[in-house]
Amino acid sequence: MCLKDKILISLIESRSFLSGEKLAEKFHVSRAAIWKTINILREEGHDIIAVNKKGYYINKIGDVLNKQQIRSFLQLKWKTLPICIYQTLDSTNSQAKREVAAGKEGTKLIISEEQSAGRGRRGRVFYSPKDKGIYMSLVIQPKLSIKKSTLITSAVAVAVCRALQKYTKNRFGIKWVNDIYLNGKKVCGILTEAISDFESGVVQNVIIGIGINLRSQQFPQELVQAGAIGIQNISRNEIIGNVTNSVLQIIEDLEDEEVLNEYRNRSIVIGHEINFEQNNIIQQARAIDIDENGGLVVLLQNGNPFVLNSGEITVRVVKKESQG
Ligand code: BTN
Repeated sequence: MCLKDKILISLIESRSFLSGEKLAEKFHVSRAAIWKTINILREEGHDIIAVNKKGYYINKIGDVLNKQQIRSFLQLKWKTLPICIYQTLDSTNSQAKREVAAGKEGTKLIISEEQSAGRGRRGRVFYSPKDKGIYMSLVIQPKLSIKKSTLITSAVAVAVCRALQKYTKNRFGIKWVNDIYLNGKKVCGILTEAISDFESGVVQNVIIGIGINLRSQQFPQELVQAGAIGIQNISRNEIIGNVTNSVLQIIEDLEDEEVLNEYRNRSIVIGHEINFEQNNIIQQARAIDIDENGGLVVLLQNGNPFVLNSGEITVRVVKKESQG
């Protein structure tokens, strides 16, 4: 751990003034080094007060992405998860893919303060400005058959809702397959990409990309459905830690029937008329259930049931007054 992180953690844990002398002694550096590092922490956005003869006190922790802080929120079994934080990236999912392609495998978490080419499903762009949200990708090796691994997509949506639900009273809903809505607005998108071995039929790596709009902002005009959760005073490190715990846990519990039950309960699509587009053809149907593989069961206009599986399908809930 670097000196900056050590000092930050000491200040957070002490909850009272710590003298420069004590810090210097503790970390075997000069008081000048402590002072210099305190200034770097201030530049990063931490509000640190310095009082003569008392020392330093952290008044407010800045919302700076920090590995050690994220790790402090991880459950014991995932404490050693490799975490990589970037100031900017094209896309955390693309970075994860590059690493897997280069043979740098293993479970890991890649986060970026902003993305210049954040990707959504069906080739869409995911708007990812600095300071407004969380852009993270978890790389896992679930050792699942290609068929079973389709459950990951819906499970991750449930996991993210569970993690975020503690920060707001209003209930998060899931629009099939895995867009997360709050108060009628899309506040989170999930892009799961699998790297599989056709010969063994086993999924080797799954990249779970999660984009969360935390803070209110001006979204580009075309993103009419986008909104923000409105979380202001909670550090992104805490939220990332909790989302990571929740996702890694649900991957372990993938076959627990509670996962799909919660998915059904949070669905904002079941019971609604929907339009779905498949192979450039738009059809109207009524969404009636989620099947055991996470597929959306619909009743077509001719009364026949039909199961939509993710991939190349877009679903739009038909509103009473307009189609949106
Ligand atoms: C969607 O809305 O269709 C899915 C959006 C997924 C966005 C996240 S942000 C982190 C990760 N990196 C990406 O490029 N995309 C995902």
